[in-house]
Formats: sequence, structure tokens, C-alpha cells
Amino acid sequence: MRSENAEPIRLEDYTPTPYTLDRVELNFNLVPDATIVTSKIYLAPRTPEDAGKPLVLDGDELELVSVEMNGRALSADSYDATASQFTLKTPPETAFSLEITTKINPQENTKLMGLYRSSGNFCTQCEAEGFRRITYFYDRPDILAVYTTRIEAEKKAYPVLLGNGNPKEAGDIEGTDRHFAIWHDPHPKPAYLFALVAGDLGCISQKFTTASGKPVDLNIYVEHGNEDRADWSMDCLVRSMQWDEKVFGLEYDLDVFNIVAVSDFNMGAMENKGLNIFNDKYILADPETATDVDYEGIETVVAHEYFHNWTGNRITCRDWFQLCLKEGLTVFRDHEFTSDERSRPVKRIADVKVLKNHQFPEDGGPLSHPVRPEVYKEINNFYTATVYEKGSELVTMIKTILGADGFKKGMDLYFERHDGEAATIEDFIKSFEDATQTNLSQFALWYSQSGTPQLNVAGEYNEQAKTFTLKLEQSTPPTPGQDIKRPFTIPVRFGLVSPNGEDMAYSSSEGAEVRGDLILLTEASQTVVFHGIGAKPVPSLLREFSAPVKLATNLSSDDHLFLMHHDNDPFNRWQSAQTVATDLTIALSKGAETPALSAFLEAMKAIAEDDALDNAFKALALALPSEGDVARELGNNVDPEAISIAHLTLRQKVGEALYSTFQKLYESLAPSGTFSPDAKSAGNRALRTRTLSYLNAAQSDNSAPLTRAHFETADNMTDRIAALNVLVHERVDGYKDALDAFYQRHKDTALAMDKWFMVQATSPAEDTLDTVKALTEHPAFAWGNPNRVRALIGTFVAANQRRFNALDGSGYTYLAQTVLKIDQNNPQLAARILNAFRSWRALEPTRQGLAKAALESIIEADQKLSPDVQDIAERCLQ
Ligand code: BES
Ligand code: ZN
Repeated sequence: MRSENAEPIRLEDYTPTPYTLDRVELNFNLVPDATIVTSKIYLAPRTPEDAGKPLVLDGDELELVSVEMNGRALSADSYDATASQFTLKTPPETAFSLEITTKINPQENTKLMGLYRSSGNFCTQCEAEGFRRITYFYDRPDILAVYTTRIEAEKKAYPVLLGNGNPKEAGDIEGTDRHFAIWHDPHPKPAYLFALVAGDLGCISQKFTTASGKPVDLNIYVEHGNEDRADWSMDCLVRSMQWDEKVFGLEYDLDVFNIVAVSDFNMGAMENKGLNIFNDKYILADPETATDVDYEGIETVVAHEYFHNWTGNRITCRDWFQLCLKEGLTVFRDHEFTSDERSRPVKRIADVKVLKNHQFPEDGGPLSHPVRPEVYKEINNFYTATVYEKGSELVTMIKTILGADGFKKGMDLYFERHDGEAATIEDFIKSFEDATQTNLSQFALWYSQSGTPQLNVAGEYNEQAKTFTLKLEQSTPPTPGQDIKRPFTIPVRFGLVSPNGEDMAYSSSEGAEVRGDLILLTEASQTVVFHGIGAKPVPSLLREFSAPVKLATNLSSDDHLFLMHHDNDPFNRWQSAQTVATDLTIALSKGAETPALSAFLEAMKAIAEDDALDNAFKALALALPSEGDVARELGNNVDPEAISIAHLTLRQKVGEALYSTFQKLYESLAPSGTFSPDAKSAGNRALRTRTLSYLNAAQSDNSAPLTRAHFETADNMTDRIAALNVLVHERVDGYKDALDAFYQRHKDTALAMDKWFMVQATSPAEDTLDTVKALTEHPAFAWGNPNRVRALIGTFVAANQRRFNALDGSGYTYLAQTVLKIDQNNPQLAARILNAFRSWRALEPTRQGLAKAALESIIEADQKLSPDVQDIAERCLQ
């Protein structure tokens, strides 16, 4: 049921509040179903003109208990209080305080926003608008206040009481079974960074000394019994702190840094000041339950949330339109961190895969929006791949355009100017402009114009003149609300690869601006002529993926195969392999000829046998493009089943052609010594399991002895789950026994059980939807746990292209029904899962019709929709 349409929020309407609010004293009397919150806030008219204007505070599902002004009860006619708003009709004309008492029910809070319970503990999530579910407040990021928080709870059930900032005081409450703790955070912060935890938790601790000699206590809190699984996170935290000091010159600024892991969490983790709260998926790891991917994910998320302490907390956002100011920049920083800690090219490939798999489809469909949106109805729906991943790409481009030194100067100036403020994208860009005397006004279009630019490049060699000419054209498809787009500044990193595989020097160039190995495009159509080119080169374009664009060139498949062998940019070696493999998959899916196949197989073999290559890189270069990659390349009239079949065919062909090569690799990579999650060991495992899946695809014996042995002898989760995937997806004899064995082994470890659900949800088997439905009845399934729902339902709709897009529409109907069910408890989770429809218009006509009907059935359902789900459904249908 469509609910009355809420008015959209617009960037252009931004206005400061009529009152300032710079100090808060909170008191929490924690009781599971009736927590009493008292909030004393200190207010003053912002300007003389504001004096006397009504004071309007945000609320959400609140019950007012009492309110006092300047220490005296207010008369009932001087204010209005509903569940979602508090209005003081005529406030005093000078500074005043309000003491507001509300009653909330954490026990029944299934939205996991505000104060809620997870595994019997109390915790909070306030970004973006959760603080208003705790007390009436100016719940917006430009209100920066100093918080003091007193927490009181029963001592036995909740021995640990944590707040933001530094601990000040703690003790028992005489004559009761309760105790209290007082925390003070000296750094002014917006309400979305508020946090509190009360519970019975175990903890690991470590001392850290900052570069300037300040001691900091680091603590990671987990459920009792999980302490041993937090060591890796602590290691990641320490390395993150050291890296931020070394690379950005940024130090930590409190006496303690606490992290708490909880098992019910809507997102990955949250950067609350001095008290990060994490989905336990991004804290807990041991070889038995976590894969190499999990270890790396933990490293990323721990670093990301820590880095927010400066990019997000010390400098926050003026309003939620500026979300990429903290998120895009912090993603950039966590990418840089991983690149420095591990392999830069491998990380670049992984990040571009995420960008192309998530952001490109979003930007090419009905949910497309600029990196800095200008209008929204539900802010929770704008924590998107565009804001995060494309937002990070824009920072990378700034660094590419200004160079490392210019970038550093700009960042330093940004911190110097805006520390302690709520800033905007304009502030950020201006810092780079002023620090380097560069005009970035055209570059800034990347923040306001949505859509993925198409970049077409044609190269031509002139033997007589010894010139090589590149003709470059850019255009960006129209998106809702943006019909005509101006050309972007596009940095194109390139090399002219000579027949012997080396980059050729050029004597001079004319046309578009060229700086060394960088072409800076600024117009819709430009040409560059390189002089002094002795032999016909193969241009390697967009090296390191220097701009988030779709590239089309006049290179032949022979040229791509040449670059696959010879490019000295590892990213483009990988990209060339992907380009050829994507073309082959498309041809196979259409029953067309595949003349490039044998040369492609040769090139794959050469990569597999190249001892100079790093194994993590090899594992990526030997991977075929995903079904989603192929669908995206096609762009329209997509038939996911045909793509899936073609994908499996190509995999089998590679497996057959390279069988003995893969066999040798598989054997040579047999593990030795004890498990270590380091990048090199992880790379070896990734390559070995890649060969395993090819070897399995190529053999006709359905008992798959190699894969079964891999499963049975695995001494770590990475190997065990990789083998289980193959066994289940290929329906190898005895695959059900393997599933049972996994279940018995891991049934008491939630994060491992999530993998058991995922393996089954991603099977290409025809009855997978029935399996998914049956698994929702399994005793281990829980609708209230977001990780579990994502593992089963989220994975089925987002990662099983073939079965979600079943031709009878059953996958779409199931998604619609399931979203309606989840929406009644957890709208944010429901809306995320509904994103699976974002590319429905690219499908072939029959599936399009079915997907559209399913989306309409959500809007017309006989239940009140959350703003979250309504917003996604409506925009998908627009
Ligand atoms: N600030 C976000 C968490 C968040 C997102 C809270 C949306 C409320 C609504 C946090 O810094 C974040 O971005 N977390 C990511 C992981 C990160 C490594 C990109 C997440 O939770 O997925
Ligand atoms: Zn973040």
C-alpha cells in the first residue's frame, strides 16, 4: 500500500537551524522494554532574527515522559510532542536549557536503528537518523555538540558500560543491583556519531602510543568465548593507526579506542566516536571459520571505520547530500591502505570489479544518481555504490590529476581549514584548488552529473609520418532529471606498447593535453597526435582504470591478446583477458562463431605458466568474467540463462585445454606449514582453488575425487568452502553428505553457517528457489538476523542471476513477497534486498514484464510500506 507521499528533501533548501545546540548531558536508565532517557540540551538563538522562533526537534517512535526548561516543568500548552516531533512554541530569546525525558523499548526495536538489543546486550546505531529514536534532538549532521553520557544498568547482566570519548567515573548504586558509568567526549560531534553499549562481553586489549607519544588503550569487545577470534582485528587496527600517521600525518585523539562486535547489525560497521560498533562478521576470524576473503574484509572495514575518525568525525558533513565527503574519501583511504599493505595491482583489480559489478549497473539503471545527490526521500537508500565506490574513484582522479604532491597539499589544507567543522564538497574541492592553484570547476561535474561516461578511442598509425593518432570521444547517457550532460575532465593513463612489448617514448604530442603517460580529456571529442613513433604500437588505454568510464576501442582481439601477454600495466593485462573472455561468452551465448578461442586459450596458458607473476594476480587473470559482467556488457535484451550456460561452457573449454597445466599448478601449490592469512599465502590458495574449479569442470567422473579430497582434507575455511561450492554447484555424487558434514562441523558458529546458506543459494540447479524456500524453515534460519537473511535471500537474488531470473517469474515473485515480509520488521534490510531489481529494464521483454509486475505488486500490496521500500520500488518503476 502506497503511503502518503513524503515531501522530498532538496540540497538547494539547506538552511541552518534557528537555534544552536552545543552541549548535551544524557542519562540512560537501561531496562530492556522500558528504558528512560533524559537529555539536557543547551540551546541559544543562532542570530538575533532567530530569537523566539519555534524550536522544532526530530523524533521517531518516541514517548515523551516529561520536559523542563531552565530547571522548571513546562506547561502543557507551551509545547507539542508527537512520536515524531517536539515543538517548543515560543522559546526564550536568550540561551536556555531543555531537559527532555523519553521512554523507549529497545527490546521491540527490530529496525536496528536507535537503541536496540542484540544477543541480550544493549547497543545503538544512529547513522543516519537513528538518534531521534532515542530522544528529541536536532538530528542532523551540522549540529556539533559536546556529549556527556551517564549509563545505568543492572550490574550482573550488563557488567560492561561503554560510551563515546573518555571514561570519567563509574561505580555501584548503593542499595541496588545496578551500577553506572560516565563518559565524556570532548570533541564536538553530530548526533549520528553517538553510541552506547551495555552488556556482558569479553575483551582483548592492547596499548598503542601515537607518533607524538600519547598512550591509547585499544579494546575489542566480543561475546565471551570469542576473544581468540579478535586477534586479527586488533592487528589490523594497530596497522591502520600506524598507516594513518605515516601516510596522512593523522593521529588518534582520545585516551581509549573501543570496538564492540555485535551479531545483529544492518551494515558492516559504524565509526561512532571512540566506540566503533561492528557487525561481528568484520571482527571475528580464525582459520577454521573465516576465509581469506573474510580476513581481508576485516582489514578493510577496521581500517575504514578507524580512518573515519578524521574523514567523517573530526571533519563531518554539513548535510546528508555531502555523504560522499566522508564515505567516498574514506573508501579511497581504505583502498590506499590495502594497496600499501598487500599488492597494489591486485587491489586495483578487485576494486574495479566491485565498481563495475555494483556501481555501473546502478548508474545505468533507474536508481542512477549523482555522487552528490540533489534530492532524496529516504537517506538510508543513498548509502550506495555510487556514493561510496564512484565517490572514491573521484578522489583517485583528483590524485591522478594533481599528482601525489599536489594531492597531499590539498588534503593537508582540507584538514587545516575544516577540522571541527561540518563541511561540503565545495570546501573539499576548494582545498585542492587553493593548495595547487588549479581550477577544478569542470572536474567538479563528476559530483553532480550521474551516469557512466562512454569513452570511445580509435588509434591510427601513420608509417610515413611516424605518428600515432588517438581520437577520443566522450558522451554520457541521459539519466532521470539530467537530459543533457557536459563533457567531463577524464584522465586517461596510457602507454604505446611496441611490438616487443615495451612502452615506446614519443618525441612530442599535439592536440589534447598530454603529461607524460596521462592524457587529460576535457572536451566531447579530441585528438592527440604522437610524433616520433618508429613502429606501429598497440595502445594500452585507461591504465590502472584511471577514470570510471566505459571504454570502447578499435583494438582487435589480437591486440587484446597481445596486451594480455605484454602490457606492463598489470591492470590492463587483466582487463585485456576479461575483454576477450567477455566477447567469447557473448558469442557462445548467441551460438555465434568463436574464432579467437584458441588464441585465448593459449594466452591463458601462458599466464598460468608465467612464473614471474604473483599468484594472487594469476588467480584473477585466470578467472572468467562473471555472468553479471557479461550481462552488463550486453546492456539490453539480456537472457541470464543463456549467459549462464555460455559461461559454464567457456569454463569447461578452458579446463579441458589447460588440464595438465592446472594439474601441475594444483600440485605445486599444495599447502605447507600452518595456516597464515597473509596476502601471499592467500594468493596461493586463491590460485589453487581456481585451478580446482577448472579441473572439476573438465572431468567427466561425477564422483570428483580431487574436489572431495580437497573438501575432506581442508584444514581451513578457505579451502573447505571453495571445495563445497564446487561439490554443491556441480551436484557431484555425495554433495548432500558434504553439506551435512559442513553443517555438523559448524552448526554452532553463526558466521560459518551463513556460508552454508550461501553455498546453497548460489547453486545453478533448477530447484534452487525451492531449496531457498525450504531453508527459511530450517531451525538455523532467523528472519531477525540480517546476516542470515542476506546470506540466504540476499545472495539468491543478487548472486544467482540464472535462478533469480527464472523465465517463469518465480524468483521475482518470491523477492516481492519476501521484501514485504522483511519490511514489517527491518525496512532498511528490505530495501537493500529490493535493489536486486535495479537492472530489470536491461532484461529481455518477457522477464522485463514479469519483473515490472513484481515491483508493482509491492506498491499495491495490502500493507503499509516503509518509506525505504516504497522509495526503491517507485524509483525502479519510474
Ligand atoms: N558510516 C558507515 C556505516 C553506515 C552506513 C551507517 C549506512 C548507517 C547507514 C560506515 O563507515 C561504512 O561505510 N561501513 C561500510 C563498510 C565500509 C568498509 C565501506 C558498511 O557498513 O558496509
Ligand atoms: Zn564509511
